[in-house]
Amino acid sequence: MHAGLSFGSGPAQTRGAVSLRRWHVDDAAILISGCGDPEVARWMPRMPHPYAKADAARFMNISEAGWTEGTLATFAVVGDGEVVGSVSFSVVDPNVPEVHGAYWALAEQRGKGFITTAVLMVVDWALSELQVARYELRTDPANTASCAVARKAGFEEEGLIRCAYRRRDGELGDLISWSRTIK
Ligand SMILES: CC(C)(COP(=O)(O)OP(=O)(O)OC[C@H]1O[C@@H](n2cnc3c(N)ncnc32)[C@H](O)[C@@H]1OP(=O)(O)O)[C@@H](O)C(=O)NCCC(=O)NCCS
Repeated sequence: MHAGLSFGSGPAQTRGAVSLRRWHVDDAAILISGCGDPEVARWMPRMPHPYAKADAARFMNISEAGWTEGTLATFAVVGDGEVVGSVSFSVVDPNVPEVHGAYWALAEQRGKGFITTAVLMVVDWALSELQVARYELRTDPANTASCAVARKAGFEEEGLIRCAYRRRDGELGDLISWSRTIK
């Protein structure tokens, strides 16, 4: 059954110095470097760690299937001509429809505003062209950079979801819920 959204040709591809494209099989080295980063491992505990070539291959399969099924949209973010990170969302409730977003940046490309611009591009597309009603982000309150991206991308802070995830050390952590909605 096709329970997802119709992504069509995807979002607008360029805004200033930032463009979005689908991931390619030959991006494996970038994925290994980006997803294997210690800050990504810290704040995204479901990311495989260490991150190996097989994880990149599995990600490519998952992202291809997710695009076809309309359940996962994941983009390589290109800033000033180089891949600088990733912005993605997955459909958690196709009836609303509601999506949850995620992002990471290569360590040497952080703090340049690329991810905030890419999040704006993807959220604008989801809310205006896919009729997504609710785009949610969840950030650990201690993840200052991620909270800053959410705030700068126009997300409203909704509150704290308690015991919302398990950290890599096994401890339960709280998450701030942020949303942008169509009304
Ligand atoms: C979260 C992450 C993607 C942000 O990437 P980025 O390239 O720094 O994002 P941007 O440059 O678009 O915006 C970051 C903003 O946060 C601010 N910021 C970054 N680190 C900060 C810190 N420690 N304290 C305060 N502000 C901070 C930056 O100054 C910038 O705001 P500004 O443009 O007003 O100066 C990056 O830090 C990352 O990959 N972290 C690890 C993975 C992760 O946490 N993903 C999110 C899981 S919820």
